[in-house]
Amino acid sequence: MQHVPSQGVSILGATGSIGASTLDVIARHPDRFRVTALTAQSRVEELARLCVRFRPRFAVIGDAAREGALRDALRAAGLADGVVEVRSGPGALVEAAQCDDAQIVVAAIVGAAGLLPSIAAARAGKRLLLANKESVVCAGALLLDAVRIGGATLLPVDSEHNAIHQCLAGAASTNGAADVRRLILTASGGPFRQRRDFSGISPEEACAHPNWSMGRKISVDSATLMNKGLEVIEASWLFGFGRDRIDVVVHPQSVIHSMVEFGDGSVLAQLGTPDMRTPIAYCLGYPERIESGSPRLDFLRLGALQFEAPDLERFPCLGLAYRALSAGPAASITLNAANEVAVNAFLERRLSFVGIAATIECTLDALQAPAPASVEEVLEIDGWARGVAEKAVRGGAWIS
Ligand SMILES: NC(=O)c1ccc[n+]([C@@H]2O[C@H](COP(=O)([O-])OP(=O)(O)OC[C@H]3O[C@@H](n4cnc5c(N)ncnc54)[C@H](OP(=O)(O)O)[C@@H]3O)[C@@H](O)[C@H]2O)c1
Repeated sequence: MQHVPSQGVSILGATGSIGASTLDVIARHPDRFRVTALTAQSRVEELARLCVRFRPRFAVIGDAAREGALRDALRAAGLADGVVEVRSGPGALVEAAQCDDAQIVVAAIVGAAGLLPSIAAARAGKRLLLANKESVVCAGALLLDAVRIGGATLLPVDSEHNAIHQCLAGAASTNGAADVRRLILTASGGPFRQRRDFSGISPEEACAHPNWSMGRKISVDSATLMNKGLEVIEASWLFGFGRDRIDVVVHPQSVIHSMVEFGDGSVLAQLGTPDMRTPIAYCLGYPERIESGSPRLDFLRLGALQFEAPDLERFPCLGLAYRALSAGPAASITLNAANEVAVNAFLERRLSFVGIAATIECTLDALQAPAPASVEEVLEIDGWARGVAEKAVRGGAWIS
């Protein structure tokens, strides 16, 4: 077997759900990967625990006020000063993404906070394993430019986009994208697929996803179907298709992760158990297939696979995302920012579940900005939209 030199991996958002799955895969391949940097925002104890196990060169805490607590936690965990270099603040997240020691960067920060580190990794020419879909939604053109100019390789971790990447990789053609009729993103439908009355939904109910174990923000996004909306926008940027060639189908078993339909009528699908270690291992090993630890799909126990159309009346967030995609990049930034504010307010019990879509809609209604030409302009629109959405949450009648 050919010897593959060990590659350094920076994991941005290491204490999250994607971070945990990534480290699980990495731990299965100690000769192939070494951990260069681990980052978190606030959970110092968890970050220190990961440092003890994976011995990164850098530990980065995004909230600079917690740097002292991280140093204390590392000492308490038995790591002498200097064994792991401690950094803090948003600038240190960018440094972790650019670090010379890392050939691979896993972008697994949640929300638009991941944008600057994702762009930094792209500019630095890394192999960028992108889970942070919000950075593509906010700045698709700028991120893809950075990938091109930096000579980076972007591989999608999101299971749907990873599935499409796999289906397209197996479809060498002379006509390129023209041979593809449409992309079909599958959606589980979330915990409320069969629920009619959306009043009184609690954060605990919204976060109880039937198939996937994920962070709280993406779990709520799955419950509102905003996650699928963000993924439609993400797919549009990553694969270069307009909204008329990206369909969503609800598939409650989450076995088919997405599909590509070709001009001759063939449909390629990627299947697997709902376990993020599969797409993560695909990206880490690409173009080789490496062991992920995911359980195998047992077709004999699978039973029937179901498919349904998404219900845009009960789940207006998906329609809002289609609207934002049609309206252009400033609307996508606004959609994402308003969603982050609304989901956070819902998790803090300041907003009802139905209030999430209402908040996003009225923020989109207020938008007047032109398409952003720089990252600074993206952040400006993002900040404006957060202000409008927060005001709508405070003044809105969507508490119950
Ligand atoms: N989970 C999945 O199965 C899944 C699947 C597909 C795509 N994704 C995408 O992957 C990303 C991560 O999702 P997740 O479920 O892993 O989220 P998560 O469990 O909530 O973890 C988020 C990570 O980001 C860090 N973080 C939070 N706010 C930050 C900030 N302002 N600045 C820097 N770091 C920050 C957190 O640090 P602390 O722990 O210190 O707060 C944590 O390490 C999201 O964009 C999500 O849409 C997730």
